[in-house]
Parts: sequence; structure tokens; C-alpha cells
Amino acid sequence: MALHERTVPRKESANDMQASTVTNGVSDSDFLFITLPKQMFPGAGHDGPLVYQAVHDELMLDGNARQNLATFCQTWVEPEIHQLMDECIDKNMIDKDEYPQTAELESRCVNMLADLWNAPSAANTIGCSTTGSSEAAMLGGLAMKWRWRQRLQDQGLSEEEIRVRKPNLVCGPVQVCWHKFARYWDVELREIPMEKDRLIMTPEEAVKRCDENTIGVVPTLGVTFTCQYESVKDVSDALDSLEKETGLDIPIHVDAASGGFLAPFTDTSLVWDFRLPRVKSINASGHKFGLSPLGVGWVVWRDKEDLPRELIFEVNYLGGNMPCFALNFSRPGGQIVAQYYNFVRLGREGYQKIHQACYRTAQDLAYEIGKRDEFKVIYDGREGIPALSWTLNPGGKYGFTLYDLSDRLRSRGWQVAAYSLPEHCEDMVIMRILVRHGFSQDLAELFMNDMDRCLAYFKKNPVSTPLTEDEAGGYSHGR
Ligand SMILES: Cc1ncc(COP(=O)(O)O)c(C=O)c1O
Repeated sequence: MALHERTVPRKESANDMQASTVTNGVSDSDFLFITLPKQMFPGAGHDGPLVYQAVHDELMLDGNARQNLATFCQTWVEPEIHQLMDECIDKNMIDKDEYPQTAELESRCVNMLADLWNAPSAANTIGCSTTGSSEAAMLGGLAMKWRWRQRLQDQGLSEEEIRVRKPNLVCGPVQVCWHKFARYWDVELREIPMEKDRLIMTPEEAVKRCDENTIGVVPTLGVTFTCQYESVKDVSDALDSLEKETGLDIPIHVDAASGGFLAPFTDTSLVWDFRLPRVKSINASGHKFGLSPLGVGWVVWRDKEDLPRELIFEVNYLGGNMPCFALNFSRPGGQIVAQYYNFVRLGREGYQKIHQACYRTAQDLAYEIGKRDEFKVIYDGREGIPALSWTLNPGGKYGFTLYDLSDRLRSRGWQVAAYSLPEHCEDMVIMRILVRHGFSQDLAELFMNDMDRCLAYFKKNPVSTPLTEDEAGGYSHGR
């Protein structure tokens, strides 16, 4: 949630929505004089259809979500999902006793994900839905921290001896949720910095940072900045060797926010999941490549033992006894129902077809982008998520920056992220496109036409004062 500071209250004008000015309906000219209240809590209420129209009109100023090529999240869903969301608008997923069937669908989804992610059949897999991967990552991180503390207790360390230790977490260039986790729960984040010739985690760099206070290693399946997969298998093998040499047994949590709903369908030979015994938990965003509407993520543990009991609250005041591990309490049930609908509606085959089409579009776009003299492709939609990223070809003088280009593309409604990479590579500015369900080959072609129009424009009208990252309003997941 973005934090909003209060603005200095202004006196609402005489034309602000007041009962007397809005009684004649939307088609009446009075409507044209309405301004919505902005700072003071309104005194009287107003006519529903009028308020709806005024709010609806204001929302026209938001970008068109389907043209938002910066987001990882779903912007297209089937009419049946709209219908299910509507039917579930009043269901609180936390009230498992009142809405047992919603709870049942959540449980089925956890089972299906355990199957999809190859949890060993004999194991007692456990998991839950969340608001997204951020909450799921926090829960996975907390379980790792608790297990680390348990390990120290088992080794006979006293509470005092444990308290003076600082737990750490080793990761590559992670999404901001892991920075939050580290700060909120007092864990040192040992983030492997990017280098110009190495933008993601390698096993050597990960192992170098591990010690007896490492609660876990987090490889990302689909790095937010560059969209590449980090090799969970290589990291796991390296940690096996470390254990042999030192006795340190360090677990892995995979941040598969995007890849968790891609690799199982499009790259079945990639070993990244519970097939690796060291992988104890996995998070993924249902609302990204899980194709569900915004507001659902998942976290699954390999075995009940990997989720310490002390983290689970048993709540009985809603009727029944409800085990609960979550940062939130009340949460809408619709997204979970929609996720179940998608699993049944699409099956492995449907997910595979949709994602393969997205990969093809991403690869075709990367090929087209690569043909333009101005650009150098960094990621071409292979060995990662259906996306592409590129930078300006070094050495050239093009009369624009990627921030200018991002701004210019908005004139046709396209929202394309341009951002600088994290520490060590902050002078490298890249542009990235996520290809999701709903972005067809045809739309991609229209996008390239607009891209060429922008490039021609800058050739004729080179920018004399380039935009900065802040001015371009770019959107960054990392900081
Ligand atoms: C790798 C990764 N982890 C976590 C997140 C956070 O996910 P969510 O937006 O579902 O909270 C993202 C979001 O883009 C991500 O890319």
C-alpha cells in the first residue's frame, strides 16, 4: 500500500458535489458542474448513479490496463471469472466455518500446487493462499527464521546465545518484498550484487555468503529486473557440497512469483521445485502467470515439519477451529475461487498453450527490437519468463533516453517500464516488456509500429534535456 500524506485541506468550492446540484440526473447540464469532494469528509450523501458516473469518469485518467506492458499481473480474465468474482464479493475467505466450500477450494488449490511442484507423494505438504507473492514470501521467510532458531536450540544454545546472533538470508537481486522481509523481521539480507557480466545469482556467489546464521537461500525463478531464471538446481547442488564440507544444512525457499506458474507447463525438464530435497518452500503469484485476478498468491511447504507449529494460530471465534498462518485476517474469497476455476478450466494443457503463445510473442518482439540499431537486447524471452528487456546500444548518440522513449510511448497508451538496475549496475538503464495473456501477436505488431513511430520522431526531434527516472514516472519493483 502506497503511503498517502494528508494534503492541506482546501475549502471545497461551491460546485463541489452537493445534494442541491446533483438531483437532476447525469444527462442534465447540472452534472457538468459537479466536482467531487477531495479532502473534507462529505456531509450529505448523494445519488448512487450520479456518484458512480462521476467516479467512473475520473477513472478514465488511469492507464488502460491491457496496454500496461510493465506489470507482471493479469489484465485480462474470462467473463466467467467476472461472474464468480461478483458471486463471491461478500465472502470472507478467513471465515472458513461460514464459507466451508471456499475453504475447500483453497485446500484443493494447495493440493494441486503441491502436485504441480512435485512435492513427494509421501510427504505431508502444507500451504495456504495469500494476497500475493509478497505476503507468501514473508511467510516463507518467517518459517525459515523460526526453523533456524529451532536448529540452534537443538544444538543446545541458550536463549541468550541465540539472541545475540543475527540471522541472515542469501539471495540474488530480489524484489522489494525480500528487503521488506529482512527489515521488518530483523534479518540481514546478503543480496549478491549484480555485475555487468553477471546479472543474477550464481551458486559460487551464494555459497560464499552462507554461514551458521544463514536461515536460507532464496533463488528467484524469474528475476524481476531481467526476467531470467536463477538456477535452483545448481544452487542446491552447491549447498549439498557445502553441507558435506562443513555440516551446514541450509534450506532453499524458491521465489517463483512468476516462474511457479510457467516452468511446470512450458519447461518440464527444468528441475527447480520439490524434486530437490533442499527446496523446503515455494511461493508464487496466482495473479501473475496463474492467470487469476489481482489479490492471490500461494506458499507451499514441502512437509508439515518445515512450517514450525508456533507460527500457526488456532482461531475459534468464527466458529470451528481454524488454523491460520497469515499476515492479514479478512480477505476476499473470490480470487481463490477464480484460481480454482482456472486450474479446472485450463488444466496443464491450457496453461501450456497460453504461456507458449506468450513466449512466442516475447521472442518475436525481442527479435524485432534487436533489429533496431538503437537497441541491444538483454533478455529475449528464452530461459526465463515470457518477457524481453533491452538497453540502448552503447556508444551511439540517439537523441533520446529510454525514459524519453517510455514517456513518448505513452502518447499511444503503451506503458513500458524503463528503470535503472540495482546497486553496482545502477548506470545501466533498461526497458522491459512482460507478455501476458491478452497481448496478442497482432497487438505486438501494432506496438512495434508505434515504437518505430517514436524512433522516427526522436530522429527528427532529438531531445535536448532528457527526462530523469523520476520525471518519466517509471515504476520500479526493486527499490
Ligand atoms: C520475483 C518476485 N517476487 C515477489 C514479487 C511480489 O509479488 P506480488 O506482487 O504478488 O506481491 C514480485 C512482483 O513482481 C516478483 O517479481
